[in-house]
Amino acid sequence: MPYFLGTRLAAPTYARGQMVAGLTLLCLFAGSSSGAERQVSTALHIDAGRLQSNLEHLAEIGRDPGGGITRLGLSQAELDAHTYAMSLMKDAGLTVRTDAAGNVFGRREGSKQLPALLFGSHLDTVPHGGAYDGSLGAIGAIEVIRALNAARVTTRHPLEVVVWTNEEGPHFGISAFGSSVAAGTIGHEVLNRKDEQGDTVADWLRRYGQDPGKLASARIAPGSLSAIVELHIEQGPNLEETKVPIGVVLGIVGLRRWMCVATGTTNHAGTTPMKRRHDALATAARELLAVRDSVRAEDGQQVGTVGYMRAEPGAPNVIAGRVEFPYELRDLDAAKIEHMQARALQRFADIDREEGTTTVCTEVNHIEPALSDPGIMALIRQAALSAGLATADLPSGAVHDAGEISRLAPMGMIFVPSHDGISHAPGEFTQPNDIANGVEILYRTILLLDKKLGAK
Ligand code: GLV
Ligand code: MN
Ligand code: MN
Repeated sequence: MPYFLGTRLAAPTYARGQMVAGLTLLCLFAGSSSGAERQVSTALHIDAGRLQSNLEHLAEIGRDPGGGITRLGLSQAELDAHTYAMSLMKDAGLTVRTDAAGNVFGRREGSKQLPALLFGSHLDTVPHGGAYDGSLGAIGAIEVIRALNAARVTTRHPLEVVVWTNEEGPHFGISAFGSSVAAGTIGHEVLNRKDEQGDTVADWLRRYGQDPGKLASARIAPGSLSAIVELHIEQGPNLEETKVPIGVVLGIVGLRRWMCVATGTTNHAGTTPMKRRHDALATAARELLAVRDSVRAEDGQQVGTVGYMRAEPGAPNVIAGRVEFPYELRDLDAAKIEHMQARALQRFADIDREEGTTTVCTEVNHIEPALSDPGIMALIRQAALSAGLATADLPSGAVHDAGEISRLAPMGMIFVPSHDGISHAPGEFTQPNDIANGVEILYRTILLLDKKLGAK
């Protein structure tokens, strides 16, 4: 029995260009008498049941007994997920290879000698994360290949499915690790970075069967890609709230992350008068609020976060002498991130003076904002229109591998709704119907790109 696309746009709920909760709906509705309506085909090319069962299988890798999935980048669980993806790629007839950053590529040749069309995502998660962030885009990309095989479609461009290594970044503090190496925005300088066990990035790459000394060989040569497309869950509430099934990403925020150490004086919590304390945890707590104030000091969608603090020695009756904490700032405008950072650092200096402590921060991650290619955005809208699905343009507050690869080739991203806007948490959920819609639109977008890119 064929599957059919759901959540179709019923006229006259939305109209072209109508603003709904700040989002512009750019797709027509089924039931209009326009020419576009005649081209609407709601039958799925992809196999929604197979896709769902692959996602369920994957969700068992790194499953936490307490809830959620812990499949950190550069860990045995991520490696197991890569192995699973490679087996699916081989079953789909792809020629599989890995690069020195541990990224996995599966290639399907085209009829012409053209730069490849690249699409995929990542399989690592944050600690106690969800089953869809990254996994949907990676497994969905393999499903697109299987659907093309089933329909006996030969594309002009070679197609490459990619699974990037360590997109999330909690392990080693580097988000979008694999794609940044591929884009050449990071390199050998990260190899000796240590995790809490004392293992380095290089150690982990060796466990992935790679030679860290050859990390630079993972760089993708400019000109060797036609485009990069990534399907992803929205990870926010907008699409669900506005009942729009397909998001067209306008751009991906830039991210800068620092690791800070506040140093004070360890002392007795009962005998040290309040006036004589140099409490590193008090400093860090005030600095957390300074980051928040600095972000809130101007209008906009910029965000800033201190995700955790580690106080030492960590006893209830000891004043903390050392606190380690990261903070990160994100926005679509790199200059705004600079301003927020300058304000935060000024406050940190004031707080240190007042508390008699010292705070030293080192930048550990710097990802520039990335804008989507307007031509690819238009093709995603066209693909959704052909399926009778509404679209909305929206920015991404999450970082994505496609952003790094946009330094090399035009980039587009497709979003599908996240239930209750929850992500990076065990409650992350996307309806099977929305998943099928997203992968079907990826399928159609790839075919449109294959037809339109470089066509005379
Ligand atoms: C990754 O999902 C991030 O945005 O941190
Ligand atoms: Mn992701
Ligand atoms: Mn994520």
